[in-house]
Amino acid sequence: MSEILRIRGGRPLNGDVWVSGSKNAAVALIPAALLADSPSTIDNIPDIDDVDCYRNILEHLGAKVRFEKGSMYIDPRGVNKNELHSEMVSRMRASYYLVPTLMGRTGRAVVPMPGGCNIGNRRIDQTVNGLTMLGAKVDISDGVTIRAEKTDMYGGNDVRLAMPSVGATINTMLAAVTAPGETHIYGAAKEPHIVDTANFLSSMGAKVKGAGTDVIRITGGVPLHGSNYTVIPDQIETGTLMIAAAATHGDVRIHGTIPLHMEALTVKLLEAGVDVRSHDDVIEVSSAGILRPIKLKTQYYPGFPTDLQQPMTALLSVGWGTSQVTETIFENRFVYLDELRRMGASIDLVSNATAVIQGVEKLRGTAVTATDLRAGAAMIVAALMADGVSDISGVQFIHRGYEHIDEKLRALGAEAEFVQI
Ligand code: EPU
Repeated sequence: MSEILRIRGGRPLNGDVWVSGSKNAAVALIPAALLADSPSTIDNIPDIDDVDCYRNILEHLGAKVRFEKGSMYIDPRGVNKNELHSEMVSRMRASYYLVPTLMGRTGRAVVPMPGGCNIGNRRIDQTVNGLTMLGAKVDISDGVTIRAEKTDMYGGNDVRLAMPSVGATINTMLAAVTAPGETHIYGAAKEPHIVDTANFLSSMGAKVKGAGTDVIRITGGVPLHGSNYTVIPDQIETGTLMIAAAATHGDVRIHGTIPLHMEALTVKLLEAGVDVRSHDDVIEVSSAGILRPIKLKTQYYPGFPTDLQQPMTALLSVGWGTSQVTETIFENRFVYLDELRRMGASIDLVSNATAVIQGVEKLRGTAVTATDLRAGAAMIVAALMADGVSDISGVQFIHRGYEHIDEKLRALGAEAEFVQI
């Protein structure tokens, strides 16, 4: 038996939907809770496989964890292990946030190299650089395990990142709050989940300033306590729903969002002729006509997010004229184009980095595979637009990052369900 997501396309999405908490923030906040000397309760945690994976890891390490109705209680006081095995972490990229947190708590960490979606090389040199600059000894020489430990030199320092890596910024922040003295992270990433991680650390008593700008300043070594905190809404789920609304010529109000996080997508949807309006925490997306072709390039925040490149390309595959989508963050994020082509899309890949999309009149439903998490979002968007039924396999990727996506789509009028075959 295997599971697929079956979607019968061609119905406009209409109505109201509520966005879940941010996956990429939750997977940073959960390990951050290990740095406290008392329990934390984190609300608005999405019920997704990456979170489930983290819950198992924390329990294995000796923490007490309860997860009910989106609220996760984490008591880190029983943590008595600092080594993890690869089968526990292989599905998930964010597992390496346990390196600075276990090291901060116990002095050392042995964590397998992170897994996650196969969308490029996903190097970790900037994390190693950040932790080393703070005086940790980090060894990745066997290529499969990260071994890190505090040395006598463990303390604040200047860290210059070669690129604004999300993972390296979060790992360096998580280490810097336990490294006595001043740390300045230059060239930091500015994504919303960086700011959310900094805000959670501040709510635990940490001294963190400047998150959301290029320079984050941290005074480390202050004892941290547990905190009650609410995760920000998921920027990428919001964007996926906005794109799905546009793709089906629907009219959807997405509640519980932060419209500021959606500026880059909103600008591109407006340019393509989609109607987007926001007020307070609601974004309304409607689209009546055929889309105009556009050009876009993925960039670090506040630019167009690489995580929305895939569903956006699916959207642009139906419409007038020729669109261009250039991926600048990951080397290997166009693998799913073959799946879109099987549905009738006309897309050429130029120099591995730019998709040239000739809009077609219609896609046709067929059996396709989600090759990674956001490729799954692209398949969902394409299937919602297509004539007939699409059977999407590879749903384990979709379960990693989208909470109850079938229910949300059905509430908007789509025919979508997970089916065992
Ligand atoms: N890079 C390096 N060296 C490093 C770190 C990064 O060369 O030490 C390069 C990477 O190879 C990549 C680029 O820098 O080309 C960006 O990598 P980054 O470290 O920013 O990405 P990440 O932390 O691995 C997070 C998200 C991704 C999202 C990217 C970019 C989490 C758990 N993951 O990954 O989310 O695509 O930032 O915004 O936060 C997803 O949600 O589907 C997803 C893949």
